[in-house]
Amino acid sequence: METVVSGIRPTGNLHLGNYFGAVKNFIRMQQEQRCYFFIADYHSLTTHPTPADLHGSVKQVLAEYLAAGLDPEKSTLYIQSDLPEVAELYLLLNMNAYIGELERTTSFKDKIRAQPDNVNAGLLTYPVLMAADIIIHKAAKVPVGKDQEQNLEMARHFARRFNHMYKHEFFPEPAPFNFGQELIKIPGLDGSGKMGKSEGNGIFLYEDAGSIRKKVMRAVTDSGPTAMDQVVSEPIQNLFTIMEQVSAPDTLQHFKDKYASCEIRYGDLKKQLSEDIVNFTAPIRERIIEIKSDEAYLSKVARMGAEKARESARVTLREVREIIGFRPF
Ligand code: TYM
Repeated sequence: METVVSGIRPTGNLHLGNYFGAVKNFIRMQQEQRCYFFIADYHSLTTHPTPADLHGSVKQVLAEYLAAGLDPEKSTLYIQSDLPEVAELYLLLNMNAYIGELERTTSFKDKIRAQPDNVNAGLLTYPVLMAADIIIHKAAKVPVGKDQEQNLEMARHFARRFNHMYKHEFFPEPAPFNFGQELIKIPGLDGSGKMGKSEGNGIFLYEDAGSIRKKVMRAVTDSGPTAMDQVVSEPIQNLFTIMEQVSAPDTLQHFKDKYASCEIRYGDLKKQLSEDIVNFTAPIRERIIEIKSDEAYLSKVARMGAEKARESARVTLREVREIIGFRPF
């Protein structure tokens, strides 16, 4: 049995990208592996420094995790900030993380462009905290979407560097994981780029049917294929990519054939896609509403998760302190 860790920031409702890039794998992995899935609330402070309702956002993601199919009896579901050991490991890893390598990461460069007035140290050391999240449970596998590939590479560096620095084969090197083998990127509806929480291009698990239909009908398309077997343009390929996740294979093939023969009607494609998305998300939305209203259940899940996660984190930290040379007098 392998140990698996992954997390999601509570900066908005979960969207289809989070689901198909990450949560779908969580649900399968929890059947077979020792899984730790958490809500990365420390990380959310790097971009949302004064959250109006941090607690509410955490609660929302917890309800969404559960509604999507995470089982607190099978996997350990917890909130990052309930594990002070993570903060301590982050501090220790920071001593062996170099400014140069951190400055070169694409996500840091993207973030400083996006928020030039708040280039905080937490943004710079974001991958170090991620590494701490992962190796605190000595995880081997990390189910994530394509956008986290570089952060995972950094986590492997930090794990390897720790082992090397302290001459101890202690941390395994964590590998990114997806059941479909290749890490995936779910595109947004705006014709380019990945689906994101704040890009205004996403569809959320919690979204109602009317709003989903409206968004899909407004999705960017092209002016239509003009030659047989033309290469599919990016905005249309994006719709096909989403369709690949939510629709039946022959539905997708039908529209691909229509595109190839220049007979496609984008209105029909969008109608079908929006119905398939609604069919997929509606039951999850219902469960989110139900679970969110059950405060006692949510707090029980969070308490149970924190306890189980801390058990594992405490053991690692005790050993890490010993390896580095902190010893009691
Ligand atoms: P976050 O909160 O941005 O996203 C959570 C998960 O969803 C995946 N994802 C996507 N996958 C495919 N297509 C998309 N459009 C898409 N958008 C998001 C992400 O790849 C991710 O798996 N840094 C992480 C949270 C984190 C973490 C960790 C993850 C903190 N510590 C340790 C793994 C291990 C993040 O911001 O994900």
